[in-house]
Amino acid sequence: MSELIRSEQHDRSSSYQKQDQLFIPSRSDALKILKQYNTSESLIRHAFAVEGVMGHFADRFGQDREKWQVIGLVHDLDYDLYPDQHCSKSRTILEEHGWPWEYIRAVISHGWGICSEFEPESMLEKTLYAVDELTGLIASTALMRPSVSVLDLTAKSVNKKWKDKRFAAGVDRAIIEKGAQMMGIERLELITETIMGMRKVAETIGLKGSI
Ligand SMILES: [Fe+2]
Ligand SMILES: [Fe+2]
Repeated sequence: MSELIRSEQHDRSSSYQKQDQLFIPSRSDALKILKQYNTSESLIRHAFAVEGVMGHFADRFGQDREKWQVIGLVHDLDYDLYPDQHCSKSRTILEEHGWPWEYIRAVISHGWGICSEFEPESMLEKTLYAVDELTGLIASTALMRPSVSVLDLTAKSVNKKWKDKRFAAGVDRAIIEKGAQMMGIERLELITETIMGMRKVAETIGLKGSI
């Protein structure tokens, strides 16, 4: 039997298992589907940034780190190929792959009020909603620094850029503010913790810079 046929058979049997509701997506499942649907380097970097931050918050809240990271990795799964169907296409793809509703709901609720009617409810969902846009503001701020790094970046510097509405104008500050409120934490604390999460993956997301 050729290697290809054997691996196709393996894929088919694992997808049957997924339909039995026993499927808990692992990080390697998330990476595989992420690479299957995304070729954009910047989107993949964003996925790794959000993964790092979700893992950091999971540890902080004593939650299941792999679950939080997996959801962070795939939260924009459909955006490269189907930007006009953002969130709804991710739901379809993940349902087709047998992903549990808890994971799918978390993914689509990050677009609440924009491309999804599912309001963030769990702490995992609220965190994803809050940090998604914020990682963009932090990355843009880090890129402006002489070090080009998140390792020496402070929340104070990011907060200064927050107030400059022309800087990274595409970052919706209102969503981040709303997310912090939902989580019950101050904006500065949210920024501090999000920077800490991004530091853990600094090299992977190209923000280790010269440090
Ligand atoms: Fe998104
Ligand atoms: Fe995102």
